[in-house]
Amino acid sequence: MIIGVPKEIFPGENRVALVPDTAAKLIKMGFEVLIEKGAGENAYFSDEMFVSAGAKIAGDKNKLYQSSDVILKVQRPYYDKNSGTDESGLLKKESLLITFMFSLSYPEDALRCAEKGIRVISMDAIPRITKAQRMDALSSQTNLAGYKSVLMAADTLGKIFPLMMTAAGTITPAKVVIMGAGVAGLQALGTAKRLGAIVEVSDVRTAVKEEVQSLGGKFIEVESSENMQDAGGYAKQASEDYLMKQKEVLFKHITEADVVITTALVPGKKAPVLVTEEMVKKMRPGSVVLDMAVEFGGNCELSETGKTVEKYGVKIIGEPNIPGLLPHQASELYSRNILALLQHISKDGNVVLDMNDEIVKGSLITNDGQVVHERTMEILNINKK
Ligand code: NAI
Repeated sequence: MIIGVPKEIFPGENRVALVPDTAAKLIKMGFEVLIEKGAGENAYFSDEMFVSAGAKIAGDKNKLYQSSDVILKVQRPYYDKNSGTDESGLLKKESLLITFMFSLSYPEDALRCAEKGIRVISMDAIPRITKAQRMDALSSQTNLAGYKSVLMAADTLGKIFPLMMTAAGTITPAKVVIMGAGVAGLQALGTAKRLGAIVEVSDVRTAVKEEVQSLGGKFIEVESSENMQDAGGYAKQASEDYLMKQKEVLFKHITEADVVITTALVPGKKAPVLVTEEMVKKMRPGSVVLDMAVEFGGNCELSETGKTVEKYGVKIIGEPNIPGLLPHQASELYSRNILALLQHISKDGNVVLDMNDEIVKGSLITNDGQVVHERTMEILNINKK
């Protein structure tokens, strides 16, 4: 089979779905690899590096799509009604697209692919089971984002993070509050600690308390009898009651913070609002909020996607694609996640989807002209046949 890797056209996307090292491995597995000219350049992988790895370079995007059986991408096919751009229209019928589809948040994009007869496996839907750990692209990317978010916030804050004793007096350490202690939040905690900040962390899943403490953070407790974690280890959507109580508890912590980094997500739901306008008003001028959930509705009431805005003297960073700011390593890790998936679903250079396999079942979004992913179907109000 031919695997095609186009250059990403999604605004601000610098990553590439395959890097030369992994291209070589796929070729060894029996695939042919076709890379669009310049596909890796924003992530610092040149066409020459791909050629040395055994891949072929395609100058013509249309030709690449039309000759490929499998398309590897980072972003879901770009669709813009105003400009009439529909990237999904480039894929050939029955080709397999492997990408971050986020079909629970963008179900119409999945439907558009289904209608064109494109099969989609979404990297964000790979079940988080031990067997699939090497394919866990959500973790590989948000881990990097957690690190980078702290550097971005530290750079925007007009203060230093660590305690510093000087002849001119003592500087007290910065206070960082992190909302959400998942993969991104824990990495942010470790990074902020290494920079010398005092870090407090809040999460609805009390199971993470020990992890937070072992990384040197203080866990902000919200007393509740609700069980906030589902069987998959993810957060459940919190009740209004809980969110009210949480806001009361958080008010003091957030308004006294120099930096607030929010990473709180509930899969398939709008991100919970945790930092209200009232809180921002009471924060010290010069403080920074970085809203990593901005793409999924935002944890801060005042964040704006793709912008850094200043409200009530507080700088609010709304960068939606932080892994894209670390394109080299983010592409390397993502590409290895995809390699692990292809090793699982292919034999002798051919992809063969076993519909009874739990990784395939969990991550296959469209097949045979239909949306087949149960939770996406529910959102689209499609009845199961
Ligand atoms: P995520 O990106 O979906 O959410 C980030 C964090 O926000 C989570 O910790 C969640 O509990 C928290 N959150 C949601 N609502 C909140 C609220 N109202 N206030 C404060 N925090 C809130 O989660 P992520 O990072 O993708 O993973 C979450 C968990 O999934 C991990 O901690 C782990 O238990 C599990 N996991 C399992 C893996 C495996 O077994 N292979 C791999 C990665 C994660």
